[in-house]
Amino acid sequence: MLRKKEPEWSDAGTSADLSISEPQERRFFQTVRTGWQEERVERTVWLVKKQDGSVTAFSPNCPHLGCGYRWFSQDKQFKCPCHASLFDIDGKVLAGPAPRSLDTLDTKVEDGKVVVKFEVFQVGTTKKTAA
Ligand code: FES
Repeated sequence: MLRKKEPEWSDAGTSADLSISEPQERRFFQTVRTGWQEERVERTVWLVKKQDGSVTAFSPNCPHLGCGYRWFSQDKQFKCPCHASLFDIDGKVLAGPAPRSLDTLDTKVEDGKVVVKFEVFQVGTTKKTAA
């Protein structure tokens, strides 16, 4: 059986540019290796910086059916346009059909940079499972 490779860590930009409690969408490239092939794939994440300087990264896809959602500062909520799921700043479901919280990605801050291990997760399930 083919073993699935661990996703690579990717540089998702500086931490200093993030405002505390103001989620920001970031785009970056992740190197994906399959056998001998290496590909640079564009990824998107939502980053949330906390008071203590730590950063949380959320997968950009709604856990209901995978639509892209976004942050609305005035309401302090992430909103998904497809079936109106709402999430708080910690990714918790506030309303709508989403079966679980927004999916977090392994993240760390190193030398002022946010580093993310991007992964894709199954949608429509109560449990977060890699796709
Ligand atoms: S895909 Fe987001 S609420 Fe359905």
